[in-house]
Amino acid sequence: MIIAANLKTNLTRKESDEYIAELEKFLDKNNFSQEVLVFPATSSLNSHSGKVIVGAQNAYAAKNGAFTGEIGLDHLEEFGIKTILIGHSERRHIFGESQEALVKKFNFYKELGFKIVYCVGEPLEVREAGNKVMMEYISTQYEGIDIGYENLIIAYEPVWAIGTGLTPTLEDIEVIHKELKQKSHAPLLYGGSVKVTNAKEVLACENVDGVLVGSAALYVNHFCSMISYAQELNK
Ligand code: 13P
Repeated sequence: MIIAANLKTNLTRKESDEYIAELEKFLDKNNFSQEVLVFPATSSLNSHSGKVIVGAQNAYAAKNGAFTGEIGLDHLEEFGIKTILIGHSERRHIFGESQEALVKKFNFYKELGFKIVYCVGEPLEVREAGNKVMMEYISTQYEGIDIGYENLIIAYEPVWAIGTGLTPTLEDIEVIHKELKQKSHAPLLYGGSVKVTNAKEVLACENVDGVLVGSAALYVNHFCSMISYAQELNK
């Protein structure tokens, strides 16, 4: 399974290095076979060798250039980063990244062979409009995306579940994941208020191939527990 930590705008480079070192120690000790990804803040990116795959939360679709406030391929290559998160709801909703811009970014990093974790998910009002409207909304987030890309991982993250402590029921997760699996056979993660207390049952859901964890992943011991759960489930 794939267990991923999105550290968002938390942990300095020193703290992120320590965090990843802790994870490596844990993985070495237990000889686990899970795929573990960590997305530190941009200024916390650093070179890393080990079992943990370090990815970028964001980068612009350019090698370099006049894009104030952004980083490009050169900045990822400096640290050997070959994994990127694209389409996170915070990028879509707080920073207004359009589907068109995300597709451009997706294609740029796809051409370079990056592992891409591509996020989809609906806001609350869409959810409340019913299953049909919700699935139509999520379908628009697949537009222009090469769903057959070999290094693609999809993360279903309902916007209303992110950082709120709310989650869909396990049954809802299974229903939605089943539908999304029909769109793409890429590994499908669930994200949104995954905690050490619910991770095991979420991971056990059918068509859940892993989790993308925000706030709870900031506690390295909690994140390690989630990796252990995945190992125990041995899916
Ligand atoms: P929380 O786990 O804090 O809800 O965040 C989820 C998320 O956005 C992961 O990308």
